[in-house]
Amino acid sequence: MPSATSASAANPSRLRLLFATSECAPLVKTGGLADVSAALPVALARLGIDVRMLLPAYRQVLAQLPQCREIARLASSANLPAARLLQCRTDSGVPLYALDCPEFYDRPGGPYQDETGSDWSDNALRFGLLSRAAALLAGGGSPLDWRPQVLHCNEWQTALAPAYLRYGAHTPAAALVTIHNLAFQGIFEPELLAALGLPAESFRPDGVEYYGKLSFLKAGLQYADAITTVSPGYAQEIQGEELGFGLQGLLAARKDRLYGILNGIDTVMWDPANDPLIACRYSADTLAAKAGNKRALRERLGLADAPDVPLFAVVSRLTEQKGLDWLLEIAPQLLALPAQLALLGGGEPEFERGFRALAQGHPRQVSATIGFDETLAHLIEAGADAFLMPSRFEPCGMNQMYSQRYGTPPVVRATGGLADTVVDCTQANLAAGSASGFVFHEASAAALLAALGRAAGAWRDGATWRALQKNGMARDFSWDASARRYAEIYARLANNR
Ligand code: ADP
Ligand code: GLC
Repeated sequence: MPSATSASAANPSRLRLLFATSECAPLVKTGGLADVSAALPVALARLGIDVRMLLPAYRQVLAQLPQCREIARLASSANLPAARLLQCRTDSGVPLYALDCPEFYDRPGGPYQDETGSDWSDNALRFGLLSRAAALLAGGGSPLDWRPQVLHCNEWQTALAPAYLRYGAHTPAAALVTIHNLAFQGIFEPELLAALGLPAESFRPDGVEYYGKLSFLKAGLQYADAITTVSPGYAQEIQGEELGFGLQGLLAARKDRLYGILNGIDTVMWDPANDPLIACRYSADTLAAKAGNKRALRERLGLADAPDVPLFAVVSRLTEQKGLDWLLEIAPQLLALPAQLALLGGGEPEFERGFRALAQGHPRQVSATIGFDETLAHLIEAGADAFLMPSRFEPCGMNQMYSQRYGTPPVVRATGGLADTVVDCTQANLAAGSASGFVFHEASAAALLAALGRAAGAWRDGATWRALQKNGMARDFSWDASARRYAEIYARLANNR
């Protein structure tokens, strides 16, 4: 790998981009952000961008990247401790800077929560440090010779960086913030402002203040040069009251700088023709082989091998957002269709309890695996007949795209990125060759049940089902087009500096 200084010296014309994120698959993952962080930088590098990544050196990251070396020390400031910057080699080839601060990141548990599922109490400082490090590398005071022209921040965990750039950096890089989910804003007590080293003057309605609190995300949205979110539909929705989470006014006011760019998927990691994590590999031309995955999945989960029963599946964080309370509500009718259900997920205890109890009551018809399991997620995509995402809101969603690529038509609610990526199974869409799943509109258990009934009916009609599968498998969900859109925005931002 080139050293931190040599790449830019060798290619002065390449756009230099620092991609700051709090998760990246396969090193550390809680949801779709990790998938995006793993794939988008690779697609950008393919377009010729000199992209480097900044990620906290969590315990699990260092365990997987044993060959990191220190390239800089960052001094403490306010209540933020000193840290080291490590340069690491990654399998993807994208250079990674790991922010090493053992007192913040060398812990058991997840990136945001401890092993019992409670948020770490010092998250404001942990991600304040990450944001500050990103801003430091993107400003005139950087300890590295390599200086990005654009800093790309993701979610609240890095969204304080544009505020640090605004209040302290000489010759700052341009900043872009991507909203992956507006429900997570990083809201903390205002007293933390001083601890984070931000000036009192930043605490105002057109600054970092949000209803009397300090909001990391609002800071980013306020001070960034551009804002993106992960689907065109969600970019519209967040400008309205229902899904704006109190930030709709700010987002509408900045709409000339707000872009909805659909996430892509990693078509190498998620490829049924080459997936090492599934039982039988297949493509649109060898769809019959998919049945081997259904058999393997049922066997692994202890589900009955019933030939005339469709297998519906869920892989999801178990939270209110995902609409799975509706699924619990209609479970008796779903089972009476008849249908089987395989769920993989973790999250709020009441959902975990609900699905566990359902599975215990119907062990041959329902399976609930509570926890995080990448291998099982792939086998479910390959082995299920249909995939359920009845989300109340969904900024983009990745699994409905994986599902279509795996010939597993998704059943989704028409919201955000789900509405942008799934084409409903109507007669007209079937005739046009575009139908790829089932889309329902009303936010209710009854509407979900009606969609599941339609899906079960179409599954029994083999020709319709095969058409849905083939239409979905033929779609291009790769990053190519979306990465080009990001590249255009970066170029504009860099030119305006
Ligand atoms: P979100 O980011 O809101 O959770 P997405 O659909 O964008 O939703 O992305 C979720 C990602 O996390 C997908 O790659 C999905 O397969 C994965 N995932 C979610 N829960 C689990 C789990 N329990 N085990 C394995 N993978 C999971
Ligand atoms: C968030 C959203 C999800 C999106 C993902 C990646 O976690 O909830 O819809 O796909 O980020 O952008």
